[in-house]
Amino acid sequence: MSKTVITYGTFDMFHIGHLRLLRRLAELGDRLIVAVSTEEFNAEKGKKTLIPYDQRTEIIRAIRYVDEVIPEHSWEQKLDDVRRYDVSIFAIGEDWKGRFDFLKPYCDVIYLPRTEGISSTELKRSLNRFSSISREDLLHACEVLEALRKDFA
Ligand code: CTP
Repeated sequence: MSKTVITYGTFDMFHIGHLRLLRRLAELGDRLIVAVSTEEFNAEKGKKTLIPYDQRTEIIRAIRYVDEVIPEHSWEQKLDDVRRYDVSIFAIGEDWKGRFDFLKPYCDVIYLPRTEGISSTELKRSLNRFSSISREDLLHACEVLEALRKDFA
């Protein structure tokens, strides 16, 4: 019998942790459905994304491990989805360990290890650090300007 796997997530700023998770999920069964969090649902969760929903879904849909993409618009939809798509396995990263055990009467529930050292939140932080000018660079720029001012005085 063919096995359908389902997972849920925001997948903002798609990164290697996301890719490895999707690969492992695809290996668990024959068909992988990914529910991508909508802007409205993220707002409800207090999560701000850099990449809009349409682009996040377009990227996920293009990954060869993924067979179908659906919207994730609420916490409550999971049981409905499991029934509607005849899901055998619900799987997600272990940052959610235990949170979805209530699905166990309906399908297998698996928590997979995360890739260490990367997350969308961390990427957003690095972007901030990357784009801000350091104190040393600012002081150096001031010195250069001061020297130029003297040259042209
Ligand atoms: N994930 C993973 N390894 C990572 C980051 C995420 O396996 N390094 C998994 C999560 O456990 C989840 C899925 O990818 O099952 C989607 O997670 P998401 O929250 O969208 O990604 P994060 O990078 O964790 O984003 P954030 O920092 O906003 O929580």
